[in-house]
Amino acid sequence: MDYKSGKYKVKDLSLASEGRKKIEWAESRMPVLMALREKYSKTKPLKGYKIAGCLHVTKETAVLVETLKAAGAQVSWSGCNPLSTQDEIAAALAKNGIEIYAWHGQSVKEFYWSIERTLDIKPNLTLDDGADLIFTIHNKFPHLAKNVIGGTEETTTGVHRLRAMAEAGKLLYPVIAVNDAETKWDFDNVYGTGQSSIDGILRATSVLLAGKNFVVAGYGHCGKGCAMRAAGLGANVIVTEVKPTAALKAALDGFRVMTMDEAAKIGDIFITATGVKDVIVERHFKKMKDGAIVCNTGHYDCEINIPQLEKLSKGKRTVRANNEEYTLKDGRKIYLLAKGRLVNLAAAEGHPSEVMDMSFANQFMSQLRLINYDKHGILLNPEVIEIPEEQDQEIARIKLQTMSYTIDKLTKEQLAYIKDYSAGT
Ligand SMILES: NC(=O)c1ccc[n+]([C@@H]2O[C@H](COP(=O)([O-])OP(=O)(O)OC[C@H]3O[C@@H](n4cnc5c(N)ncnc54)[C@H](O)[C@@H]3O)[C@@H](O)[C@H]2O)c1
Repeated sequence: MDYKSGKYKVKDLSLASEGRKKIEWAESRMPVLMALREKYSKTKPLKGYKIAGCLHVTKETAVLVETLKAAGAQVSWSGCNPLSTQDEIAAALAKNGIEIYAWHGQSVKEFYWSIERTLDIKPNLTLDDGADLIFTIHNKFPHLAKNVIGGTEETTTGVHRLRAMAEAGKLLYPVIAVNDAETKWDFDNVYGTGQSSIDGILRATSVLLAGKNFVVAGYGHCGKGCAMRAAGLGANVIVTEVKPTAALKAALDGFRVMTMDEAAKIGDIFITATGVKDVIVERHFKKMKDGAIVCNTGHYDCEINIPQLEKLSKGKRTVRANNEEYTLKDGRKIYLLAKGRLVNLAAAEGHPSEVMDMSFANQFMSQLRLINYDKHGILLNPEVIEIPEEQDQEIARIKLQTMSYTIDKLTKEQLAYIKDYSAGT
């Protein structure tokens, strides 16, 4: 383990050139974020600001980190999941002078140690995916919150918890809900999670999806993406839900809808995408077919109750990378992928660069927005703040341009027509 006091801790610095090539590949597919880098590396509006970030260390995240640095910020970084750090990317960032504490396969203690090291810079801004950094400040170092202008949060689970904190009057500084931007939630969570979760399942199992009963728990943004892509590969998709409207959408999209108790008996592959704990528990494992494959793509590893699976088992062994075979006491085998952590990040590379381009453009613009408020002396309440519609439309407009699509514009007459309450048939 390389460790230069106070600067970085990564697995192996000699992986840096491999990581650099991957970062360059991502840069070539992230035109919106690269345009922001080009623009703001000249004016450096982030100069004098210190950003602590806690987000999966992937090649796309590296493009974000280096864009924040190019715009003048001092950055310190850790991964937001013990299994999602790509060591070659962490090495490339460390070699480029980024303060980073991240390696694949961290223990929970090492995970929090890394977050705490990023706080040594006493940040003015935080950038989270799952809110672990914000929680660490609030729970362990609340005195640091007075230096913080605001934060940004990348994912659904983080935003839900921050809203709960704000409602309870416990949030100490404002946080922008990057997740809820249309150009994030409706693209990254749907198309990104859809493609990369299937990618993770295939890398860990190499099974044929065609003809399999593929059970998706949760038909929200991520679940919808997984269902859509599994169906595209010929799987028979089954959806389980708790929300009537989401279940109805799944049914009208052509999928079978049933309870997990029913699905457990017939599923070949299960993926949880709910953001809620205990979606697959002991009584479901007891009903599963011999050979069933189980994985999760929600933020935390609590959607599948692994201690209960362990309890039902008489042995386990790793049969492939990110694939553990549990032999139950009755002889059936159940395969758990990526230890129940996000399968797309732990067993594959996370979302494709093209979709992270929009998510991270939102992250960059939101950090910049917080800094602009600070520069103009605007004090925000400690609440969860939405992304403005103009930011969404601007990012989508640039993205479309880079894809060489042009769209129509509303005419003056059409604009007037929309507001005309006197017109009818
Ligand atoms: N893997 C990734 O890279 C990635 C990317 C984005 C988001 N996420 C995470 O994925 C999770 C889901 O995010 P989302 O944006 O799809 O949220 P969402 O709110 O759009 O969807 C979640 C759905 O799960 C349903 N649900 C809740 N409890 C359930 C249960 N017990 N059984 C069945 N369905 C249930 C809800 O009704 C809802 O429809 C979150 O934890 C989020 O942070 C992961």
